[in-house]
Amino acid sequence: MAYTLKIAPSVLAADFSELAVEIRRVEEAGCDLLHLDVMDGHFVPNITIGPFIVKAIRRITKLPLDTHLMIENPERYVSEFAKAGSDHITIHAEACPGNLAEVLEQIRALKVGCGVSLKPATPLDAIQPFLDRIDMVLLMTVNPGFGGQSFMREVLPKVQALRKIYKRDIEVDGGINKDTSKEAVAAGANVLVAGTAIFGKQDVRKAIEELRCQM
Ligand code: DX5
Ligand code: ZN
Repeated sequence: MAYTLKIAPSVLAADFSELAVEIRRVEEAGCDLLHLDVMDGHFVPNITIGPFIVKAIRRITKLPLDTHLMIENPERYVSEFAKAGSDHITIHAEACPGNLAEVLEQIRALKVGCGVSLKPATPLDAIQPFLDRIDMVLLMTVNPGFGGQSFMREVLPKVQALRKIYKRDIEVDGGINKDTSKEAVAAGANVLVAGTAIFGKQDVRKAIEELRCQM
């Protein structure tokens, strides 16, 4: 079965002093989603953006907003991020010990896409019982927290194993470039998040085309 390949530039690597211009560049270049990395300084050792910025971004683009919450206690904030205009909200399984089913239900009730992410070291067992309620699984291919890290090839068997049992979107995030994207897609991923490999380039259209070209 062929899955639709989607490219999701991560704004973390954009020039925030020119955010509207940066987002217009990738939108005009034909990306599919806009990936927004939310970090709280607790779940990961970095702090980025909150609902206020998501709301501002919502006003300047029609792209679906793919909000990746790298935060503790996501149940406290999912409704804020939905109200701010997110189309998909992805939480981390590691941030929901014992209440993952409830948080997924909460996200579904907000009528936005619901995603769950796993850090490289977290096994698929953490989400296996819930797969029928998850629209997208995000498998981190770096330890979350920072852009510009190297792709962790050791996550590929997890992508393959998930593809065997899961027929919806599998997103990979971290260290994705024109070479590593091929390995991730061959393993079964179909949504590619890329920060540095898109915003770090002069020609973002070419960068997106290179990620799309899987030959
Ligand atoms: C890392 C973030 C990623 C990051 C990817 O914690 O979730 O989305 O921005 O950046 P690159 O593509 O530069 O690895
Ligand atoms: Zn991300």
